[in-house]
Amino acid sequence: MFKANKNFLNLQGSYLFSTIAKKVQTFTEEHPDARIIRLGIGDVTQPLVPAVIDALHGAVDEMAHKETFHGYSPDLGYDFLRNAIAGEYKGRGCDVAADEIFVSDGAKSDSGNIQEIFSEDARVAVCDPVYPVYTDSNVMAGRSGEFDPATQQYKNIIYMPCTEENNFAPDFPKETPDIIYLCFPNNPTGAAITKDRLQGWVDYANKVGAVILYDAAYEAYITDPALPHSIYECEGARTCAIEIRSFSKNAGFTGVRLGFTVVPKDLVDADGVRMYDLWARRHGTKFNGAPYIVQKAGAAVYTKEGQEQIRKQVGYYQKNARTIYDGLKNAGYTVYGGVNAPYIWLKTPDGLTSWEYFDRLLSEVNVVGTPGSGFGPHGEHFFRLTAFGSYENTVEAVNRIVHM
Ligand code: MLT
Repeated sequence: MFKANKNFLNLQGSYLFSTIAKKVQTFTEEHPDARIIRLGIGDVTQPLVPAVIDALHGAVDEMAHKETFHGYSPDLGYDFLRNAIAGEYKGRGCDVAADEIFVSDGAKSDSGNIQEIFSEDARVAVCDPVYPVYTDSNVMAGRSGEFDPATQQYKNIIYMPCTEENNFAPDFPKETPDIIYLCFPNNPTGAAITKDRLQGWVDYANKVGAVILYDAAYEAYITDPALPHSIYECEGARTCAIEIRSFSKNAGFTGVRLGFTVVPKDLVDADGVRMYDLWARRHGTKFNGAPYIVQKAGAAVYTKEGQEQIRKQVGYYQKNARTIYDGLKNAGYTVYGGVNAPYIWLKTPDGLTSWEYFDRLLSEVNVVGTPGSGFGPHGEHFFRLTAFGSYENTVEAVNRIVHM
């Protein structure tokens, strides 16, 4: 008789955003007239910018003629896109070659899949609270050990608390990890990391022989020019860091799907194995490349026109973030994030748990957010709102919350 991968049984409940979607659906069925405003999952609401739409149309037309038709994409990505991305890195002073960039169907897939190229017994360190994909993908791979209901933590995972005291940027863990997941600007807390602090992490990783899996999906939201957009702005990152990036949050590709991962050729394990070769092998075996049409759209993001248009769109969401941040703060809430990130991280009022506050917001003012405890135990008594709604809905949601 066949046997299932029992590691999956070790996962806790369903995926956070599926749980929320179910709760909202039940509420909607019971209250069909409620006008719900969704500031929960970080999904964008504004249309793709004209430069991207033009590129999509152009690429679709190419597919209609045998002279310009494209079949399978090169599995690591088309050069036209990899070169455009490498140009951006160069502009930031980062040493990243075009062929170290692996184009994919999104940062979520990459951040879930990247753990496959590490040993089964690798010790994993994650922030607490954390984007659940990092933890869950390691649970599925059997690296987590058992879940302890008392601590709400997996026994073999090293948790790095992100709290008000450390400005939601973790301190080095007591136990030495092999793999460290970092995400800045952070999902869910909206915190940013300074260049010095990130350099500290790179130095630490190089010293202890760990790898940093750096999720920079939200870098477009950085407003402080002193903050790093990429881990490769730090000295020594090529020997200890993999960076994952997305087109979802800067260019609205959540429904189009495109992302990339940088694996420097200098990144080698304890036995001299190049992680670049393993990721290339994995990509070649399991992935047939992001669609040509989508990669053309991605390349349009890097044109002058595309850059101007996406900057404007990011600005729209940044205005939403300020609206939420200021509105709640002026109403007496304790609020974090929102300045260099599209997420606002607020303390729940009246000592409510995160889920109690979720239920209250949904039932009393029909606003959906994300309970902080869904991202880990240190997220308890916090709540996340996203800036990705329309401006009108954002203003209305804030009004409803502050007058609740
Ligand atoms: C979130 O809401 O945390 C994000 O939308 C998740 C994602 O990008 O996959």
